[in-house]
Amino acid sequence: MNKKLTITSIKNAKGVKPLVMITAYDALFAKLLQESADMILVGDSLNMSFGGKNDTLSITLDQMIYHTNAVCNGARNSFVVCDMPFGTYTNKEDALRNAVRVFQETPADCVKIEGGEDKAEIVQHLTSNGIAVCGHIGLLPQAYRSEGGYKVKGKNEAETVQLIKDAQAIESAGAFCMVVEGVKADIAAEITKSVEIPVIGIGAGADVDGQVLVFSDMLGFYEAFTPKFVKKYLDGAKLVKEAAKSYADEVMGKEFPKEEHTY
Ligand code: KIV
Repeated sequence: MNKKLTITSIKNAKGVKPLVMITAYDALFAKLLQESADMILVGDSLNMSFGGKNDTLSITLDQMIYHTNAVCNGARNSFVVCDMPFGTYTNKEDALRNAVRVFQETPADCVKIEGGEDKAEIVQHLTSNGIAVCGHIGLLPQAYRSEGGYKVKGKNEAETVQLIKDAQAIESAGAFCMVVEGVKADIAAEITKSVEIPVIGIGAGADVDGQVLVFSDMLGFYEAFTPKFVKKYLDGAKLVKEAAKSYADEVMGKEFPKEEHTY
């Protein structure tokens, strides 16, 4: 079994070893995924992937805490990141109170918050009060409604300058790593060079310090749409449907259960 990473070993991985992050929302998948993942992210994407909602915005802190405990129960050997939900870190006091709840009510190793320069003061308040923070800049899923959709960032000079400022601001505020989402690959590479902490990309090309994917995308369970940045490592939806159909056929044909399944 892999040794559990620490904040120090994650920071030291920069430029040495690419970091592997995968989301999980329950104990079963967390246990399966921990063998290959350095870090498991209990992303607020669970609102979509698990909850079937259109965006991440309506997930609550109680729900994040419930799922983070489930993941930690399954992945006892993994470094676990808990996403702070939309609206739970709009000011320093709320952010600290809510992040302390995550630390007191779950064994998560850090919280993740979306935002750059505009959130640096909040990141600083959390890190100076004993909460480890993973940043998240670029495309911000929690800005889905305010920005009118998911917007790839780094498409012009002004956005690029802001992204570098964002990365450096949250590094200076004490974040130990950051997710960079939906950013043009050459700009993500520039961001990666501009900071000393690891940059974990999603839809940000190859020249970063690690990658994160949502597990249900990566395993091909989500059929409706496949974003350009996703690679399916399993045709999960097809396999699940075939298995369920075999079971249904055998039940209807009275082939299951057989002698060996019977007390
Ligand atoms: O919620 C999530 O799954 C995330 C990833 C997209 C990085 O934040």
